[in-house]
Amino acid sequence: TASPDLDALVSRMTIEEKAGQLTLNAAAWAGSAATALNPPSAGATFTEQLAQVRAGHLTGVFNGNGAEMSRQMQLAAIKQSRLKIPLIFAADIIHGFRTIFPVPLGEAASWDPELAERTARIAAVEAAAAGIDWTFAPMVDIARDQRWGRGVEGAGEDVWLGKMFAAARVKGFQGDKLTAADAVMACMKHFAAYGAAEAGLDYSTVDVSERTLRDVYLPPFKTGLDAGALSVMAAFNELSGIPATANDWLMRTVLRDEWKFDGIVVSDYTGDEELIAHGVAKDGRDAARLAFLAGVDMSMQSGLYMQHLPGLVAAGEVPMARVDESVRRVLAVKARLGLFDDPFRRIDPRREKTRVLTPAHRKVAREAAVKSAVLLKNEGNLLPLPKSGKRIALIGPFAEGKHDLVGPWCVYGDDAQAVDLATGLRAKGATITVTQGCAPEEAIAGGIEAAVAAARAADVVVLAVGEHTGMSGEAQARASIALPDPQLALAEAVAGTGKPIVVVLKNGRALELAGAIANAPAILVTWFLGSETGNAIADLLFGDASPSGRLPVSFPHATGQQPYYYAHKPTGRPNPPGAPQAYKAHFRGILNDALYPFGHGLTYGQIGYSALQLGGGRLPANGQLAVQATLTNNGARAAEEVVQLYIRDRVASVTRPVRQLVNFRRVALAPGASQQVRFTITPQDLAFIGRDLKSVVEPGTFDVWIAPSAEAEGVHGTFELG
Ligand code: IFM
Repeated sequence: TASPDLDALVSRMTIEEKAGQLTLNAAAWAGSAATALNPPSAGATFTEQLAQVRAGHLTGVFNGNGAEMSRQMQLAAIKQSRLKIPLIFAADIIHGFRTIFPVPLGEAASWDPELAERTARIAAVEAAAAGIDWTFAPMVDIARDQRWGRGVEGAGEDVWLGKMFAAARVKGFQGDKLTAADAVMACMKHFAAYGAAEAGLDYSTVDVSERTLRDVYLPPFKTGLDAGALSVMAAFNELSGIPATANDWLMRTVLRDEWKFDGIVVSDYTGDEELIAHGVAKDGRDAARLAFLAGVDMSMQSGLYMQHLPGLVAAGEVPMARVDESVRRVLAVKARLGLFDDPFRRIDPRREKTRVLTPAHRKVAREAAVKSAVLLKNEGNLLPLPKSGKRIALIGPFAEGKHDLVGPWCVYGDDAQAVDLATGLRAKGATITVTQGCAPEEAIAGGIEAAVAAARAADVVVLAVGEHTGMSGEAQARASIALPDPQLALAEAVAGTGKPIVVVLKNGRALELAGAIANAPAILVTWFLGSETGNAIADLLFGDASPSGRLPVSFPHATGQQPYYYAHKPTGRPNPPGAPQAYKAHFRGILNDALYPFGHGLTYGQIGYSALQLGGGRLPANGQLAVQATLTNNGARAAEEVVQLYIRDRVASVTRPVRQLVNFRRVALAPGASQQVRFTITPQDLAFIGRDLKSVVEPGTFDVWIAPSAEAEGVHGTFELG
């Protein structure tokens, strides 16, 4: 079938067939990811779902399993439905399909968007071979409260970093040509401000000003759409009184009228039905009407559009023209994916078997894992460790075993095919003893005694502690972001032996670090690194690679500081760094900064920043300003430094953050090498949402830093705009 005339096709459809094109359900194929993760969908059995396809009552399915399922369903659509409209197959391909890359928050710690583009490309190649056309990714929600569990799926707390990763991931998933057999459509989610939930409680109330929305939460969506993403997922949360799924200002005024988006909006799972629980719809019919008229084109999983759109149109409560508009958009997206030309282009059992977990893909997974780990601390150059001559006690719940490797929201990944830490260390020829010590959230009988004995018999301890997979992700808000008590007790006992400790943290969020964990001489943040976890950590611990990751989220001193983010506002009573004063903004007993700030991360080199040059010190209103500094590696080992450019607007018509990232670059420096790093600042980098809620650039004095983190001084100067 060649691409049809879509208007003619719409004109031939019954209202039921139209509602069907706007209805997406979880796949009912036995053993599919969807049936494992979710209660059986509206179709209940695969046979019933096939009947829905033949009747034209389904646009496609999500989180199914494999090319054979897609083939059978597509055949039913193409051969046995009246209008032969191809199905679309969607899935949550969040950080890899079978080859699993670091969780998105971890990968953002690479500060390497080009890498994220490559990993998204591989994810698309593998997923598309198994019949998938559409991924529910990237998640681009800015997350500034670490109690929220879903920060693990995004790029962290910062707008600029978020924008860079949004664009990279969209490009990676969609590739150069959306019709290609290995391209999958990206979905910007969750629209909008889902990450701003009160107290980090998932699904909870969001109440942010339009200024903050436009300054902070919306830009990564816009950037991803500008990069070509053709779908958007409406968020579960309410937004200042109006649920996002019923929010016509968001989905019509901003998305369609201002941004001219012509792709599709899908609900997040039963988000339309949840309008009843939100208290804005009285029943399913009302919920369908509200969501649809607000701009949700496609209903996921609730079945409400199929049930109610025909009646709503018949009653004149939903104009047929609006239904036609949404149906046309869905058909257009299917056409742009090449599905009318060849509905089977992504369904290929041979490619499905040969294109996954290839050595080339695993190599990129290892590179990504290496670049995503962040070295917080390395007192006395404890790291890297020698490969021989030292007895290593590997202790902790994440030391060994095929668990907690691929991490949260990993529908198709398998821990059994990932490398654990003990295996990675042994592969380097190291002599290790392995002791579990405790379970992630529970003590085990004799565990601490065995761990202490192992530590005593060793020269150095590698302590593998942190969060297990289920502690972050959807609905996994934590009231405390400290490590669980049994792990803290284990760390204290092991520290009591006096042996040097390298803490290897597994985490889906920034954590509160305290006691023996915080005091350990070396701390490596490893998130959930995916298929090559153990090999990558071993590369770093033994110095075959130098750490280069940087925090995409600030590690606070205490949970009670949440939400903490570096780009906070100054307040009328700012607190001088390092010197808390009464009647200035601060918490009693802790400093009002981060323990480890956004952007922080050490290498095995020693990088010095000097000689800031600011062009003429003036940025003309229509011009640009070159800013540069000299970086020198004063250490004995090669390093890749992530150089960061921050600005501050000293006086503006609205309050502005104390610092704001506007650019960054990775720079490789051999031992003893120096390099000048140059950035260009344009007036657009200094724009913000002004008093009239429009983007504005105001003349004045700006601070500028080229620095190794958001709270480090680096080199600092000022310039004038205008
Ligand atoms: O894509 C996800 C979304 O992020 C959370 N709710 C379910 C969707 C489909 O699995």
